[in-house]
Amino acid sequence: MMSSNKLSSILGISTFGESHGPAVGILFDSPIPNKELPLEEIRAVLKLRAPKGLYSTARIEPDDIEILSGVFEGKTTGAPLCIIIRNQAARSRDYEAIKDLIRPGYADYAWLKKYHIFDYRGGGRASGRETVARVIAAELVRTYIPEIKILVSTLQIGEMSSAPGKTAPENTFHWPDADSYTDLLAYVESIRAAGDSIGGIIRVTAENVPAGLGDPIYDKLSANIAKAMLSIGSVRGIMFGDGLELAKKPGSWCNDQFKAGRLQSNHHGGILGGVSTGEELCFDLIIRPVSGISIEQDTIDHDGTDRKISISGRHDSCHIPRLIPVVEAMLTICLADAVQYQKLISRNQDLAGYREALNKLDEDLIMLLKRRKEVVKHVKLYKATHDLHPKDPEREREIAHKVRALAQELDLDVDLVDELMKLNLRISAI
Ligand SMILES: Cc1cc2nc3c(=O)[nH]c(=O)nc-3n(C[C@H](O)[C@H](O)[C@H](O)COP(=O)(O)O)c2cc1C
Repeated sequence: MMSSNKLSSILGISTFGESHGPAVGILFDSPIPNKELPLEEIRAVLKLRAPKGLYSTARIEPDDIEILSGVFEGKTTGAPLCIIIRNQAARSRDYEAIKDLIRPGYADYAWLKKYHIFDYRGGGRASGRETVARVIAAELVRTYIPEIKILVSTLQIGEMSSAPGKTAPENTFHWPDADSYTDLLAYVESIRAAGDSIGGIIRVTAENVPAGLGDPIYDKLSANIAKAMLSIGSVRGIMFGDGLELAKKPGSWCNDQFKAGRLQSNHHGGILGGVSTGEELCFDLIIRPVSGISIEQDTIDHDGTDRKISISGRHDSCHIPRLIPVVEAMLTICLADAVQYQKLISRNQDLAGYREALNKLDEDLIMLLKRRKEVVKHVKLYKATHDLHPKDPEREREIAHKVRALAQELDLDVDLVDELMKLNLRISAI
């Protein structure tokens, strides 16, 4: 698998683990040393993400935190910080009966096509269980953006809508409309009782986001937030600012006009040209219902034969209460990432800031060497299985030529870059 388990390359955080494996966890490559580990905060957010009563899965995990490395006397040492949460309540036998069936709506079908193997117990890596790692990661970088305040409220669950409020509602569903809350609970209960599931729309806002975050064009803040949000299982869409209204209204309405040195409106949700404006960040997420339902459905088995399936495992009938802390965590990581990157590229830095930037670049260089080595290993294997000669002097000459030309164009010492490439080849070959 390619390296697609990095939550953030700027911050250097990866996550790992599956629903029915021994544990899920995070590896934080370069935490700021000598900082108190926010254990209480991690415990609190794990509780928020945990199942909540009737509408949630009956799989209740103790979520005990185990620190494997990078902490001494309660503080980060600066060494890689590895935290795991053991899976203790996984009941793999629940899945035995349907192990040969493709579950509709799940990742099974597409992942089987890609990998030709699938861990049918729970959802494997596609399970909501993996989000434990995301909420831990967010607590480790929350102090990077102390001034930013994120609020999430639910605008819609199935057919029921609410008007967005300005404060985060205190109830389980973050439902801002107190008058219809009892009706909402009854509605979700009717879905659960029918063995079905339901999704909705949630609104996310962030106050005090500084202007200037985001890097055109491929690292726009909006693009990075969209990627972070769509990486969460079941998130189907994102709309910034006034969303669909922007498609209906003319430019004269959509433009945020200026007066007295400020924007007079915020139709675009605090981001223009991919960069934060300093106005409130605002976007809506479309959430699909979870796929695990006990209603009988048509499906196929691994041989393509028609079958029937009814999924009786432990599932969330409405997972939105559990998804909200995950969304909050992903936005925290995204904004911490953007703030950190802004520090790296900012010209007004002190020596410590410049050194931090250099350390990060050196680290990236080493990581690239490591990745190159892995790719070379695959090339060797490919050549061996396809009866190709391991050496290709013509290609090596071509690469050397290209690299020299690029070095010249970038005003780098061509001979030194040449030397570096030779070393690069040697490192990959060992
Ligand atoms: C916090 C959370 C809890 C979830 N719980 C369930 C669940 O109980 N049952 C289920 O089928 N899917 C659940 N999902 C959704 C699946 O993870 C997701 O739909 C599945 O991996 C397929 O990915 P996709 O929806 O992005 O296509 C949950 C997702 C999250 C974020």
